[in-house]
Amino acid sequence: MVNRKIILKKRPFKTVTEDLFQYITEEIDEIRDSQFLVDVEYVSVDPAMRGWISDAGNYSKPVPINSTMRSFGVGKIISSKNKNFKVNEYVVGWLGWQKFSLVDESKIQIKINPTTAPLSKNLGVLGLSGITAFTGLINICKPKKNDVVLVTTAAGSVGSAVGQIAKIYGCRTIGLTSTNEKATICKSKFGFDEIINYRQVNNLSESLKKIAPNGIDCFFDNVGGTQFDAVMENLNVKARIVICGTIGMPSFPIPIGPRINRTLLIKRAKIEGLLVLDYFSKYQEIYNKLLKWYVEGKLVSEEDISDGLETAPASLVNILNGLNLGKQLVKL
Ligand SMILES: NC(=O)c1ccc[n+]([C@@H]2O[C@H](COP(=O)([O-])OP(=O)(O)OC[C@H]3O[C@@H](n4cnc5c(N)ncnc54)[C@H](OP(=O)(O)O)[C@@H]3O)[C@@H](O)[C@H]2O)c1
Repeated sequence: MVNRKIILKKRPFKTVTEDLFQYITEEIDEIRDSQFLVDVEYVSVDPAMRGWISDAGNYSKPVPINSTMRSFGVGKIISSKNKNFKVNEYVVGWLGWQKFSLVDESKIQIKINPTTAPLSKNLGVLGLSGITAFTGLINICKPKKNDVVLVTTAAGSVGSAVGQIAKIYGCRTIGLTSTNEKATICKSKFGFDEIINYRQVNNLSESLKKIAPNGIDCFFDNVGGTQFDAVMENLNVKARIVICGTIGMPSFPIPIGPRINRTLLIKRAKIEGLLVLDYFSKYQEIYNKLLKWYVEGKLVSEEDISDGLETAPASLVNILNGLNLGKQLVKL
């Protein structure tokens, strides 16, 4: 049986381009004991991939050259030599950018019921994005009723979930995004109280002062750079800050910004980096919470889905340029 996959051919220099990847076909190996074969239906495209394909220091080893691109995926088991994973069951896990994924159970996060929600949602609002939003907000920001919560990339997959979960906890939500189209969706669909199009304001820090005169209590940052700097000038006392992503900063060379020591001191603020993988032991528990909100209509999402495995590299370039609207996925 022939597989179709995208492999990594080169490491990026400064920016990620489509030619770092190659589409190939190859025979699938024999299934060994404890393995099973998954027919992959959707694969995820994530900003974190910029780090995974680079050999700069990161939280995981770089994807080896000439190997299948690492990614989350969702699909159906079509053949199995593992008694815990049966044919026709659906799984979510590290399936890679490929049509058929031959894996053992160490690669799988959860089994899902394919009828509770559309399959694709298990990679976005009910997948890594939702789990990231939940863990960062609840475990690090610890939101209280009436807190002011600010999130960058508010229209994105993680950001839109942060905004909605903060509303469920009774907070006032402020989002930053880059276009009026995204801003409208943030308000009408994700229920943000305030949205700023950061490209349309002359002075982001001053704009924030006007809409949050008492300051920000919870800051969930996905971008770094100048947006981060402006929000840091508007913290409330005892603010909690989650560093979730740095998509707005070049990975090389890393820019020097304002020194934040005195801001943290004066505001007695706490700042913490988030890595969703640290919370994977609680994946099923958090998934169940997100699913409940999803079924109740309290957690909605946008998706940006391209068609065909060959489109995955272009989709990655798309998201790294902020051109996506919602969870970036590829349908196989
Ligand atoms: N720490 C973790 O464990 C973890 C896990 C998952 C995701 N994340 C991080 O969460 C963030 C959002 O991920 P996502 O999957 O939900 O993606 P997303 O928000 O759906 O898409 C990325 C968004 O980033 C913004 N962006 C892109 N290029 C930018 C640039 N040069 N400058 C400023 N903003 C830029 C754009 O939003 P606007 O148009 O609104 O600016 C774009 O739509 C990323 O930083 C990602 O690395 C972290």
